[in-house]
Amino acid sequence: MARIRESLRRFFFPPPGSSRWVRVLPYAVLGVLTLVVLVASAYVWEYTNSPTFCGTACHTMPPEYTAYLTSPHARVDCVDCHIGKGFIATRISRKAGDLKHVFATVFRNYEYPIRAGELRPARETCEKCHSPQKFSDDSLRTIASYADDRANTLSYTYLVLKTGGGSKRLGLGKGIHWHIENQVYYLTTDPEEQDIPFVRVVNDDGSVTDYLEVGSQVDPDAVQAGELKEMDCITCHNRITHLVYQPEDSIDRLLSQGLISTQIPDIRRKAVEVLRAAYATMDEAQLGIAALKDYYRDTDPEFAAENAELLSQAIDALQMTYVESVFLEQKVDWDAHPNNIGHLNSPGCFRCHDGKHLTEQQAAIRLECNLCHAIPVVSASDEFVSNIEISRGPEPQSHLNTNWIQLHRDSFDASCSSCHTTANAGGTQNTSFCSNSACHGTAWTYAGFDAPELRAILAQQLPPPTPTEPPAADEATLTYAGSVGSLLQSRCSVCHGVNGQKGLDVTTYTSLLKGSESGPVILAGDPAGSLLIQVQSAAQPHFSQLTADELTLVTEWIQAGAPEK
Ligand code: HEC
Ligand code: HEC
Ligand code: HEC
Ligand code: HEC
Ligand code: HEC
Ligand code: HEC
Ligand code: HEC
Repeated sequence: MARIRESLRRFFFPPPGSSRWVRVLPYAVLGVLTLVVLVASAYVWEYTNSPTFCGTACHTMPPEYTAYLTSPHARVDCVDCHIGKGFIATRISRKAGDLKHVFATVFRNYEYPIRAGELRPARETCEKCHSPQKFSDDSLRTIASYADDRANTLSYTYLVLKTGGGSKRLGLGKGIHWHIENQVYYLTTDPEEQDIPFVRVVNDDGSVTDYLEVGSQVDPDAVQAGELKEMDCITCHNRITHLVYQPEDSIDRLLSQGLISTQIPDIRRKAVEVLRAAYATMDEAQLGIAALKDYYRDTDPEFAAENAELLSQAIDALQMTYVESVFLEQKVDWDAHPNNIGHLNSPGCFRCHDGKHLTEQQAAIRLECNLCHAIPVVSASDEFVSNIEISRGPEPQSHLNTNWIQLHRDSFDASCSSCHTTANAGGTQNTSFCSNSACHGTAWTYAGFDAPELRAILAQQLPPPTPTEPPAADEATLTYAGSVGSLLQSRCSVCHGVNGQKGLDVTTYTSLLKGSESGPVILAGDPAGSLLIQVQSAAQPHFSQLTADELTLVTEWIQAGAPEK
């Protein structure tokens, strides 16, 4: 031992007079050693930053890693989102902080399913790659879905998503990405942030608008600013890298890609059934899925015998889907972490936009179907052409009430047909605007349409019922006060009220006679010369069209000198 120490000492501190070569050697060795250490640490740093390391080193990660590999971010390093981009020293210290997860793993001091407790704010992660100022044009989403019937009937739902965004300075900042440009804060009471009883918007002038969920126990005056979270990309795009699809969605995809044949009777319904069944182990699950073969052998022996190949293919695809979606040990499946984009399988956008979040003045965070996407269009697979409507308005006053979508079924009457097709109103036949199956064929689990407290509040906001029968035209009532006024008010005032279209206001006698921006629309005694009659009898129908009887009434009234009383 002493000899080794002595020779090391002589190596590093050679006696005076040694050759230059002997004196330089220790420095050279030290230099090389330092280089080796540096390269090794850089390698270790790189390696521990790699998705393969993050995704496979611990037995906790398979669910996140599997979904990651097929996500849009499959080429983005885990650390870019979980540690954030930034100065290397900051990243090293953040990573050192993460050592507590290593201890937790070693001592099994964690609970499944794993949750990301302390994500960096999107500003340090997402926004390092995605500019928050980017404007996105409307985009079309086509959703192919198969019915749970014997023929697995295919239909398509078309949605035009109004993503929008961009900066207000450039006149943009509207649409879904409005929340990036505007400051929205929220209070949440559970770790998955599914329950949001209170929302605060900071307006451009610094004032705030608070929304409280109807029936919530939260006292809005006691809410401290420090308890609120600021909304950012992750409030909505939480599963963008780790999404596990619902069985229905996975199966629709497999069917539309032809990986499961639509010729197998009832396969949509049966496939969902076997994927959703409860299994104790992976082997049990694989057997349960394989038992589909027995089902078809028992129920439809002829089909099963002739199509053994199709059935095996379907079973393989389903078994694979199960392996990629369910991680029994980690307690993860499609429901473990709700997806916050959308509103059908989990509350998502409807955590706030459920019609139940109201200001003190009872204005809601809006739930109109065309706020975020155009009214969905559902069409059968044999329809040659699907018409996707993009509305350019004008929407009547009633529709601008923030509670309109909750109110519309109670306001429905004959006047709606002047703008909408109304056949089978409230139905699901997709034969008119008012029989849309994407609206009426869905159980609205997460919207507050029927919350009793909400309905009581809304009852006070219903517009007065409009008369539907044109009043009889006799001498006594052929006046503005007698019949014409109420007719025009009910048929035209949605657009021609105070500050109405083209400046025309039909709601009082004086304003009606004053006319529009182009001058008088009524010339007493001269129906043919009156713009109102011209517009209403033109070949091109007006936005709201008087019936022939109604038009005769108004014509006779003008002929008679358009008296007020
Ligand atoms: C584009 C950003 C991004 C990338 C890349 C990313 N993640 Fe995540 N990860 C997130 C977000 C956001 C959450 C929070 C999800 C939530 O709150 O629902 C999360 C959550 C998690 C969780 C908590 C459990 C869960 O599913 O919510 C784990 C574990 C995880 N990620 C591991 C990984 C691993 C391993 C990788 C690389 C293979 C990775 N992540 C890559 C953004 C990312
Ligand atoms: C290291 C850079 C990087 C980071 C960090 C990052 N992304 Fe991305 N993201 C990308 C790239 C690149 C694409 C485009 C992928 C493609 O089109 O194939 C993308 C695509 C997307 C898409 C569009 C997906 C689609 O289907 O078109 C969304 C949404 C998205 N990212 C959200 C996020 C969110 C939310 C975060 C933060 C949690 C984040 N990104 C972090 C680079 C990044
Ligand atoms: C209010 C919820 C919400 C917030 C907040 C939000 N997004 Fe989105 N984003 C959406 C929805 C909804 C879509 C369209 C549907 C989809 O792609 O799933 C979308 C679309 C996108 C797309 C695809 C764009 C395209 O051109 O089609 C990208 C990329 C994206 N978001 C990134 C981000 C980033 C980055 C942030 C944060 C700066 C962010 N989003 C904040 C809801 C949100
Ligand atoms: C934390 C609460 C919260 C969540 C979650 C949320 N929003 Fe909002 N959103 C608001 C508030 C508050 C407003 C402003 C009130 C209003 O416009 O009715 C708003 C407004 C909007 C607007 C209108 C913007 C404009 O141009 O005026 C759109 C579109 C929108 N949200 C889409 C979405 C979508 C899509 C999602 C889900 C991906 C979503 N929001 C999730 C709170 C939320
Ligand atoms: C606050 C925004 C918002 C409102 C309000 C809203 N939606 Fe949506 N809706 C979305 C988003 C976001 C998606 C998901 C798009 C995607 O797949 O990325 C969606 C998806 C859908 C889908 C397709 C679901 C599927 O996967 O099959 C239908 C159908 C739909 N919405 C109908 C409606 C109807 C009807 C209303 C009115 C009661 C409504 N939505 C109101 C934001 C909204
Ligand atoms: C003056 C024309 C006009 C009249 C009258 C009218 N609507 Fe509308 N309505 C519109 C327009 C425009 C839209 C937007 C359509 C779109 O986005 O595709 C709309 C949308 C709707 C929607 C979808 C919800 C939304 O806002 O996204 C419902 C529900 C609705 N109207 C119901 C009614 C009912 C019920 C009546 C009768 C009381 C009625 N409308 C009368 C023009 C009208
Ligand atoms: C859905 C909204 C809407 C309804 C309902 C409506 N109008 Fe109009 N009206 C308009 C618009 C928009 C214009 C301007 C048209 C243009 O510039 O070509 C207009 C223009 C007019 C004009 C011409 C004004 C001018 O200066 O050119 C008259 C007259 C008129 N409307 C009468 C009526 C009458 C009468 C009714 C009821 C039977 C009615 N409108 C119902 C939207 C409506």
